Amino acid sequence: MIINGPNLNLLGTREPEIYGNLSFTEFLDELKAKYTNIHFDYFQSNIEGELIDKLQEVGFSYDGIVLNAAAYTHTSVGIGDAVKAIKTPVIEVHISNTFDREKFRHKSYVSPNARGIIIGFGLQSYELAVQSFI
Ligand code: DQA
Repeated sequence: MIINGPNLNLLGTREPEIYGNLSFTEFLDELKAKYTNIHFDYFQSNIEGELIDKLQEVGFSYDGIVLNAAAYTHTSVGIGDAVKAIKTPVIEVHISNTFDREKFRHKSYVSPNARGIIIGFGLQSYELAVQSFI
């Protein structure tokens, strides 16, 4: 399960110098074509509670979750708690190197409860996270 947080629906047009020119759906199609033996589900929301609901919904049955909580990474105790509460391992990913950006992006409420963290490899961060489950 790949879960994307706020504003990641705008990938491809949003700050392309940071996040690149590819939309997430284009990237996901490439990922699906490359890893045909993996079943991918994808969910994106700009709403914190919807992200928590989705983590709870899939977090007791799926093999793995790749989570980019985007801006909520740095603010949401609720998402951090949800990652802790569920059984499915979560890999936290970020497209940009958040440690090379503003200080408020250095804090993550997800990291302490994630199985691992992959940061700063562009969209390839998601692929590396998927590979960690194979
Ligand atoms: C992001 C980094 C966050 O700080 C930012 O708010 C995002 C995207 C990333 O993937 O680089 O929306 O999670």
